[in-house]
Amino acid sequence: MREQRIQVAINGYGVIGKRVADAVVLQDDMELDGVADITYDYRIRVAVERSYPVFASLPEKRPEMEAADIPVAGTLDDLLQQVDVVVDCTPKGIAAENKEVYERAGVKAIWQGGEKHDLTGYSFVAQVNYEGALNRQFARVVSCNTTALCRVMHALHHHGWIKRARSVILRRGTDPWESHKDGMINTVIPETKVPSHQGPDAQKVIQDLDITTLAGAGPFNLAHIHFAMVETTRPVSLDKLRDALWDAPRIAFVRASDGLVALNAVYELMRDLDRPRADLWEVAVWEDALAVDECEVYLTYQVANEAIVIPETIDCIRALTGIETDGGKSIQKTNLSLGITKSFLPKTTQPIEHLAGPEVEHPAIEAVRATRAEFLSEGYKGHEEPV
Ligand SMILES: NC(=O)c1ccc[n+]([C@@H]2O[C@H](COP(=O)([O-])OP(=O)(O)OC[C@H]3O[C@@H](n4cnc5c(N)ncnc54)[C@H](O)[C@@H]3O)[C@@H](O)[C@H]2O)c1
Repeated sequence: MREQRIQVAINGYGVIGKRVADAVVLQDDMELDGVADITYDYRIRVAVERSYPVFASLPEKRPEMEAADIPVAGTLDDLLQQVDVVVDCTPKGIAAENKEVYERAGVKAIWQGGEKHDLTGYSFVAQVNYEGALNRQFARVVSCNTTALCRVMHALHHHGWIKRARSVILRRGTDPWESHKDGMINTVIPETKVPSHQGPDAQKVIQDLDITTLAGAGPFNLAHIHFAMVETTRPVSLDKLRDALWDAPRIAFVRASDGLVALNAVYELMRDLDRPRADLWEVAVWEDALAVDECEVYLTYQVANEAIVIPETIDCIRALTGIETDGGKSIQKTNLSLGITKSFLPKTTQPIEHLAGPEVEHPAIEAVRATRAEFLSEGYKGHEEPV
């Protein structure tokens, strides 16, 4: 590395790239040298507003961008000369073709989940395999759904609880920024290949995880939702399950009893909390939907596809450069910089009883057990089912 601070480039300033750029700027051990793209629409103009140096990813696009008043600082090759790491956030398929460019420039590179594991040979989720990525040249941060699966399953798996996991994934129809061009209405599209790719992908990160996933897409665009059923090696109580999830980083509880009854409500909470772009970086697990029996545990959780991989990408930058060798410390640093929390409403959240794993200090003070118990006895069902 040229300096103490890691010099970072982003190639592709779309849904993921723009968020990674903003997160890099928040790190005291990183510097954003520039963002590269091929467009000149409002998205890249925001980068200019934020004073991020803008580069043309393809030299032939530079004249167009300049003609549209984008101040182009140079080409991607110029940008790569200045940096230690490039985070490739270009669309699926295009990203893989850039490998040669990064190799030639001698920079470290991170790809996103649209690319295949084999491109880098290393699929990354910070809390599972940070250390294995130390000083590698290339790594891939796995997709939003796989990241969520790995966070949740690892929280159980490292206690030796998982015999076999199954998860049903309902994906968002499209991303909000492009919902005028794409996305279905009034239907759900099941994927016909079983397992869907997320299960095998999670096994690239947690090799001995027995998991099968089924997926489909629905007419909503705020986030994905997973319904997981995990056969356990021994009976796991509800308290132990809750405790294990509480102790794992980047998993936070939401409660239907607080009115957080659906994807949109959790999204509204992120807006009320003034999160940038209403980003939910944590996996939001419905505490009131957790259930157990003598041989299985059941979980329902929300995965904000636009946001969840951002902290992973920041940690991956640290791992590849080796600037921080302790994954836990990097996670903590990233969490602090972004405001990632274990509790969205800490002043009114009841403490978790600690039964398994290392204690994570609870920020809550006062319990609201009575109201919650009353709510739990009935649960939330939405509108009555037709008879
Ligand atoms: N959108 C999501 O929810 C999401 C979640 C997790 C991971 N990912 C992954 O992140 C990656 C990027 O996805 P995205 O949703 O941010 O895409 P996006 O379409 O929002 O952004 C891609 C950006 O790359 C730019 N681009 C296109 N061709 C380029 C080229 N040749 N060189 C440089 N830039 C180019 C586009 O102009 C655009 O700004 C993909 O691998 C995707 O699978 C996406």
